[in-house]
Amino acid sequence: RIAYVNGRYVAHADASVHIEDRGYQFADGVYEVCEVARGFIVDMPRHLGRLNRSLSELSIDWPVTQAVLPLILREVVRRNHVVDGLVYVQVTRGVASRDFVFPAPGTRSALVVTARKADPAAAVKRAETGIKVITVPENRWDRVDIKSTGLLPNVLAKQKAKEAGAQEAWFVDTDGMVTEGGSSNAWIVTRDGALVTRPAEHGILRGITRTTLFDVAAKLGLTIEERKFSVTEAKAAREAFISSATTIAMPIVAIDGAPVANGHPGSVTLSLRQAFFDVAE
Ligand code: PDD
Repeated sequence: RIAYVNGRYVAHADASVHIEDRGYQFADGVYEVCEVARGFIVDMPRHLGRLNRSLSELSIDWPVTQAVLPLILREVVRRNHVVDGLVYVQVTRGVASRDFVFPAPGTRSALVVTARKADPAAAVKRAETGIKVITVPENRWDRVDIKSTGLLPNVLAKQKAKEAGAQEAWFVDTDGMVTEGGSSNAWIVTRDGALVTRPAEHGILRGITRTTLFDVAAKLGLTIEERKFSVTEAKAAREAFISSATTIAMPIVAIDGAPVANGHPGSVTLSLRQAFFDVAE
């Protein structure tokens, strides 16, 4: 495997960053994960648009010109022979002797790009089975709209899910409303067949898959209600699912151990999943 590290393509096993990289010390960095399907990087323009936003919210400079990053992503995918899988991009504020305040101007931000293969058959199987989620109290900061590498609450939540035999954890705010998953957006389908997902103005990451699913839903003639929903409503919903670059639309069959509807993946979720790649760019 090959990784891109600050201008060089290096063997993955030897790829490393400096011990005083601010990503390592402060999680002072941002990232993107893009799905690679049939050799194409799915929704790359939207991912790079969100990367630009994350960087600018944190006043981190672009490590390379915006025009060149797609070429690097494609090159890493190509060099790793990834046909189906994912590409990971991380930008940190760079290397500087440890100090909370920003380093001196001229300190170059650091760029790492990796890619890895995934088994599309395994994803199909997963979607046929569906996943289980648990709920955990929302305990993150209020800037989760920035795709920061500071993910400790997400790490702890997803580990807790794993220990409970589940695959994702849903964060729940103090009003009992679901915000999002540890690494995905949260959705339900109402009895009337409408899709419900939390507004992205506050409290969640504006998922790229979420945005593209809006387009998919429009194409399928499905109604979207962009509003908050509670755990109680989700448990009584016709369907529930998560979305992310790595899962697309993945059916949820149980929430906190209670089955969603008949405990099998829902047909609306599966049709969204089916139609996704016709709409994504
Ligand atoms: N996570 N919410 C959170 C907290 C996420 O970490 C992610 C993605 C999403 C979905 O965003 P998108 O549709 O753009 O992937 C929502 C990636 C996959 C990860 O951290 O691995």
